[in-house]
Amino acid sequence: MHYRSQRVAYPYFLLSIILFALQVAFGLLIGAQFIWPGILSGLLPFDVGREIHLNTMVFWLLLGLMGATYYLVPEEAQRELYSVKIARVQFWLLALTGVAAVVGFLFGLTEGREYIEAPRVLDWLIVAGALMFLYNIGMTVIKGKGWTATLGILIGGLTGLSVLYLFGMKFFENLVLDQYYWWWVIHLWVEGTWEMIAAAILAFMLIRITGVSRKRVEKWLYIEAILVLATGILGIGHHYYWIGTPEYWLAIGGFFSMLEPIPLVLMVWDTLREYKSRTIKHQNEVALYWIIGGVVLHFIGAGVLGVVQTLPVVNQWTHGTQMTASHGHLAFFGAFAMLVIAAIYYMLPDMAGRHDYKQGLGKWAFWTMTSGMVAMTAVLLGAGIVQVYLERILGMAFVTMKNQYMNTWMLWRFITGLVFAAGVGMLVVDFFRLPAYVSHRFNGTGLKRKQEVKSL
Ligand code: HEM
Ligand code: HEM
Ligand SMILES: [Fe+2]
Repeated sequence: MHYRSQRVAYPYFLLSIILFALQVAFGLLIGAQFIWPGILSGLLPFDVGREIHLNTMVFWLLLGLMGATYYLVPEEAQRELYSVKIARVQFWLLALTGVAAVVGFLFGLTEGREYIEAPRVLDWLIVAGALMFLYNIGMTVIKGKGWTATLGILIGGLTGLSVLYLFGMKFFENLVLDQYYWWWVIHLWVEGTWEMIAAAILAFMLIRITGVSRKRVEKWLYIEAILVLATGILGIGHHYYWIGTPEYWLAIGGFFSMLEPIPLVLMVWDTLREYKSRTIKHQNEVALYWIIGGVVLHFIGAGVLGVVQTLPVVNQWTHGTQMTASHGHLAFFGAFAMLVIAAIYYMLPDMAGRHDYKQGLGKWAFWTMTSGMVAMTAVLLGAGIVQVYLERILGMAFVTMKNQYMNTWMLWRFITGLVFAAGVGMLVVDFFRLPAYVSHRFNGTGLKRKQEVKSL
């Protein structure tokens, strides 16, 4: 069953894709400045470009997750969205806040603290947007007919995400305390609440695409969510090793974060198993590509590249090197970027009631982006290993190491980044070709759609 109000997801996805393109453009710029520091150095210094690269990333991913939530909740709760108006006002509020933040960064207005650098006034607008969102979703569910595990995990994750944001808003003069709580946002977001949200959205799509029973998918959803929280919360210790916190974090962080890949392995196994046992051949292959590619790269980027540097005995050498950047890129891309793109590819055609659109360019975008990102993170990993050896083991000065040995690696990062960016270009073009609108009523969407609904 479809609901008209699900369409409010569209502007969220649209802005999400535009900001993604902007994020990547700034990634290329700072990637180039790494090698040729003179580029735009007076106008747009590296730190400002980096700030825009990271903050637009967080923002487009959040917009994408919100769009996917707005699409998902009416269908799960079996009623129209509580208020389309609130969703629209919230969209414009967040969009204008985002634009103000990026323009502010260009003029040096920043609060510091990587990833969440919007100045305080804008923080409050973001909080207002989050409250409108939670209220709207909450009321839809309360007034709705259904309560499912997918909804429970999703709403739990969204509430946690919003509450945690508040911990990044207070400034502590003591830098150790400041960093301590900053990680509550960053780590507990990506390794806790965002993981829950991602798992719920994934479950929603898997149930519909594979035709596997809800009971089976949701049983695993609970187990994954519990394991994510059980390992992820204390896994935060892997960021407390060297910032001045008590020594017991070495043991706690090491132990719990070593367990963090377990739910990620389950997620891969679970998805592939459900995919294989699908009962209908789904026409929307590109959505499936992104889903499966996403769980695999999520596991490699977050699970493998994270866990190899998470023990204190290893991390004391690798901390803050290009190895970290390699993990950061593949984890964010695999776990969240690919999921948001999967949601776009599943939900926009679904909105129009047809999954049989032209998929050639979508497949090209998928392969170009994934191979570009895998190659880029492989280069960063190689660069990181060389950096650890020269800088941390041989004790070579950073600038010598960078100028004499890093630039070749960074050139390859730039080249692979260009490949990735070409894929993003294809994605943007394809986005505007996806069927997203229906001129007639949602449920009069033709034979194929009906067959699919029957098989659920
Ligand atoms: C989707 C999940 C994840 C994402 C998006 C993610 C992302 C990131 C990012 C961006 C950083 C760099 C932070 C900074 O200093 O600015 C980082 C650091 C780190 N991550 Fe993850 N991560 C994820 C999961 C994991 C997992 C599962 C583990 C371990 C099992 C892990 C272990 C680490 C460690 C040890 C560091 C610190 C590296 C250093 O010392 O510089 N991460 N992560
Ligand atoms: C053309 C593609 C891209 C290029 C050339 C690029 C380049 C860069 C550069 C130069 C940095 C700064 C590294 C440093 O300070 O040492 C960076 C940081 C970062 N980028 Fe990208 N980026 C690209 C795409 C992406 C994408 C698609 C994502 C995620 C979806 C992403 C996530 C990140 C993260 C999380 C960091 C912080 C990593 C850390 O501090 O460890 N980037 N990127
Ligand atoms: Fe972490």
